[in-house]
Amino acid sequence: MKSGFGKAHGKIILMGEHSVVYAQPAIALPFKQVTVTTTINESDVLSVDCIYHKGLLKDSPKQLENLQAVVEAVLLKLNKVDETFRIIIESTIPQERGMGSSAAVANATIAAIYDYFGVSLDAKTQFELAQISETIAHGNPSGLDAQVTVSAKPLYFIKDQIPETFDIMSRGYLVIADTGEKGQTRLAVASLQEKHKQNPGRVEAMIKGLGSLTNNTKEYLTTNNLEALGALMNTSQSYLREMGISNSTLDRLVSISVQSGALGAKLTGGGWGGCMLALTDNPQTAMKISETLMRSNARQTWLYSFAP
Ligand code: MEV
Repeated sequence: MKSGFGKAHGKIILMGEHSVVYAQPAIALPFKQVTVTTTINESDVLSVDCIYHKGLLKDSPKQLENLQAVVEAVLLKLNKVDETFRIIIESTIPQERGMGSSAAVANATIAAIYDYFGVSLDAKTQFELAQISETIAHGNPSGLDAQVTVSAKPLYFIKDQIPETFDIMSRGYLVIADTGEKGQTRLAVASLQEKHKQNPGRVEAMIKGLGSLTNNTKEYLTTNNLEALGALMNTSQSYLREMGISNSTLDRLVSISVQSGALGAKLTGGGWGGCMLALTDNPQTAMKISETLMRSNARQTWLYSFAP
């Protein structure tokens, strides 16, 4: 029996979400504790099996519109439009929480279909195909999620440029907390675009400010200056709050983290819900913050160590 397999992981944006859409740099980390796998099996019909739908791909609900589009694009590219198979998607990435779930599903599925047909897949083709899905999911994607969900290493990313991978020379720990609220990347991106039109001077200044924070972040990650990095995270959160990207739940978990000893804290990803990050220089404080966040109604937390 012929089959194909593809895999991708989650992501955390450490610095530069939203400003990255405006061609400012961002830093994103591959988050391999959560993954998506896609398996393709032979079938007489083109079907999908995932949490949103079990049945014909063409009968999928709206949440799978991006998947449907990417599968069609892959089949067109491979000159296999009449082929049928079963797509099985298994994921531990929380959906709609700013962890890159949509990009990871697209990447895993593209890789699996190429594998099923025994065709080798280059990074540029995979990125272009994943962006078809991301454009439907997010409207105006920078491309960061499509890149980092298949990257083995942290990325320093500028839209439309080849991403730079780098090694973190730091012993920091991040506590990642899921607010339990669905993030709304598409709406948050659109609302910032509107604010940018209404108040271009101030919004442009904050976007450029976030870009500078990203450049300083890269420096502090390579010199292990965690206190300075924490301060940058706090500044980033202030900008994102003023831009209207945060919400009261994120603000609350961010300030609880700082009160519990975090060196800095901020939302991560699209905002309007989703996840936040808190930085510490030791695992004990990280555990304490994690417990406090769980007691404060966080849905789930993860510990991420910068050390490879
Ligand atoms: C979403 O994970 C990150 C945003 O910056 C959007 C994008 O980069 O396309 C909010």
